[in-house]
Amino acid sequence: MKVIHITASTEYDVLIGSGLLPNLGAELSKVCKPGTAAIVSDSNVWPLYGEAATAALENAGYRVVNYVFPAGESHKSGANYLLLLNFLAKKHITRCDCIIALGGGVVGDISGFAAATFLRGIAYIQVPTTLLAAVDSSVGGKTAIDLDAGKNLAGAFYQPRLVLCDTDLLNTLPGDIFRDGCAEVIKYGILYDEILFANLMRDGLEFDRESVIARCVELKRDVVAQDEFDTGARQMLNLGHTVGHAIEALSNFAVSHGQAVAMGMAIVTGAAVKYGICGLDTLDAVHRILRKFQLPAATAYTAQALFESALSDKKRLGGTVSLVVPEGIGKCILRQTEVAELKDFIEAGL
Ligand code: GLY
Repeated sequence: MKVIHITASTEYDVLIGSGLLPNLGAELSKVCKPGTAAIVSDSNVWPLYGEAATAALENAGYRVVNYVFPAGESHKSGANYLLLLNFLAKKHITRCDCIIALGGGVVGDISGFAAATFLRGIAYIQVPTTLLAAVDSSVGGKTAIDLDAGKNLAGAFYQPRLVLCDTDLLNTLPGDIFRDGCAEVIKYGILYDEILFANLMRDGLEFDRESVIARCVELKRDVVAQDEFDTGARQMLNLGHTVGHAIEALSNFAVSHGQAVAMGMAIVTGAAVKYGICGLDTLDAVHRILRKFQLPAATAYTAQALFESALSDKKRLGGTVSLVVPEGIGKCILRQTEVAELKDFIEAGL
């Protein structure tokens, strides 16, 4: 097992390893006194791991209640959030109790936001069950729900008390969902770590989960320690996301987040070559690793369509967009790009 200590407005550990779920209650008792643990999960994850999580908590002396909602991004909604809050109230959850988010990014985000706001804040624990949640959304305290106008438009920065990542839980992930998470793993390599990138290139989908997830979490730890509230360094984690979110939105979310981020990373790297920011070798390496992980690098959407969709991106500040652009593998910069220039920049990468 690897333990990574996160230092943000509150400090906590991320535990990563095989066979950790049975220890959930014992680990929870180190950060939260026995009381009621409200497990929040979805219809995909609960049938697989609900019983084991409940037993682990009950064995450590917790009373367990569970809130299970239908799987899917459409349930990261205001309506579901209110249902969850009302459930917590009906079950008499107090400030001494806690929420356990057992699932992927949707479960983690909505549970975290409920934890941040119910009774003005109660403890929550992330138990990620997707690779994407393990390396990204379960760590760093971004919580959110979606609004009609876009994804993650209401939320809070609110750190969990503990993240328990049992790598065995990834065994039941469908291949395309696992590859989705791989796009975020590859992102960390392009952003910060040439060695991680080379290891991924060597091992492909067979990479060592414990050490690769731990490396990604270490990299995220450093970013969150510098910029918990996303005003600077943390924006680097959006590599591939400006164009990626545009692709996701244009496809009405038929293109998954990981696929869209993969395309976004390839497009922004293509543009970086045209603008003389990185060499063709970097673009070639990005294309090769995406192929190795069976992730797409190109989109049929036009630069005009991508530009219009990207303009509604919440990260736009006045007349500029913060684009994360590779200078090479393991080294990226934040490039403030005028909105007027954004379409040309995207066009250059297509
Ligand atoms: N998902 C990007 C971040 O946590 O900042």
